[in-house]
Amino acid sequence: METDNIVIRRARIIDPRRQLDRVGDVLIGGGQILGTGRVGVDRRPEGCRVIDGSGLVVSPGFIDLHCHLREPGFEYKETIAAGSKAGAKGGFTTLCCMPNTNPPIDTAAVVEFIHQRARQDSLIRILPIGCVTKGRKGHELAEMEELASAGVVAFSDDGDPVYDANIMRLALTYSSDLGLSISNHCQERSLSCNGVMAEGSVATHLGLDGIPAAAEEAMIARDIALAEATGGRLHVAHLSTAGSVSLVRQAKERGISVTAEVCPHHLTITDQWVFGSKGQPTAAAGGLAYDTSTKVYPPLRSQRDVDALVTGLADGVIDCIATDHAPHDVTSKQVTYQDAAFGISVLETALGSLLQLVHGRKLSMGAMVERLTNGPARVLGESFADLASMEPGTPADIVLFDPNAEWTVDTSEFESKGKNTPLEGTVLKGRVVATFAAGNIVYESPELRFEAPRAKP
Ligand code: NCD
Repeated sequence: METDNIVIRRARIIDPRRQLDRVGDVLIGGGQILGTGRVGVDRRPEGCRVIDGSGLVVSPGFIDLHCHLREPGFEYKETIAAGSKAGAKGGFTTLCCMPNTNPPIDTAAVVEFIHQRARQDSLIRILPIGCVTKGRKGHELAEMEELASAGVVAFSDDGDPVYDANIMRLALTYSSDLGLSISNHCQERSLSCNGVMAEGSVATHLGLDGIPAAAEEAMIARDIALAEATGGRLHVAHLSTAGSVSLVRQAKERGISVTAEVCPHHLTITDQWVFGSKGQPTAAAGGLAYDTSTKVYPPLRSQRDVDALVTGLADGVIDCIATDHAPHDVTSKQVTYQDAAFGISVLETALGSLLQLVHGRKLSMGAMVERLTNGPARVLGESFADLASMEPGTPADIVLFDPNAEWTVDTSEFESKGKNTPLEGTVLKGRVVATFAAGNIVYESPELRFEAPRAKP
């Protein structure tokens, strides 16, 4: 829907860049934020539509540094069109898409294809991430400069680590000159081997091969050493262990340029969920052997890890929340745990999951919003600062959400093609009411309330 001028009245405005957290009005028009604070009737442009924001939170739209839109090559799992609708429904106005596509995003032509598709099919901003190595094969650096000129916003071989330490060292060296981060999927394959879930008692109980915490931590330690040696911009993708949080904390204390992200599922659910009983004791669940929708890389881990990740996020050691939205087709998951694809469809449940931490007083609302907006914008670099701001003159990319609305996850209502979530049937508290991209409403729920027009006094 095209919008000219809209005022959102009496909402809780959270704008982390300005450290603003107070109830007020937001006026948008011409695709931009025109003002925040008190926007009286006299300050409203002619014909301005009015949204009742009472009880709701308004903030910059969420920025996802890590998602899989599967295009080109795996359109049966997701498309830019469906993924962007899912993003808008989840409150995201910017999605950075990973290059494990077919062909992978390792040439300017593929970057241009994604830009073109995004212009044509997406309601929100899509920013491609380019490969670190040609074909994501790990043998030879991709043409990083060509990719940067074409518009990638970071580099990653996600789905695979950058195996070779010397290639990682070179990539980090170039990352400083290009001003773009290297986001590494940290997985030492000689340790993870054939593992499909976290090493521990649940894996033993189920007879499944485990992935030790050291598979992640060993590579993070390597990358921190390389970041220190090169001064490059290291971003650690999807942290999942308590030890990883400690490594990032120590590196930051030593002044090394490292940033990190964590996913909603690693902050809220444990490896107990692999039993297929949503974290409840298996006996109460009626005997499902396991739930392949819990299979994800990195794997769901112990409560101790979850607690350390939440603490690291709350105190800012972890810079941002990224979804790692990894949609899969049904047949990739309706197989044995061993054979199932790794990945969870996250965009539409992220906010509801994260608000559990806010309602449980483990994370403040302000910190949650910061880690979904300003945190990822900082990783992208100064030129993206406006995307995480509600300062007048910045793009009206904003989200309006009800932190208290209860709803039951029903994947048949997902916009994403990926229905692979262990949260199916779970009650979450907190839901997006409307998402605006460049001032246009790109998602609205039935809860969105427009006020009847009033004449000026
Ligand atoms: C990712 C995917 O499906 O592309 N899956 C996942 O579990 N995160 C790739 C990956 O990181 O393994």
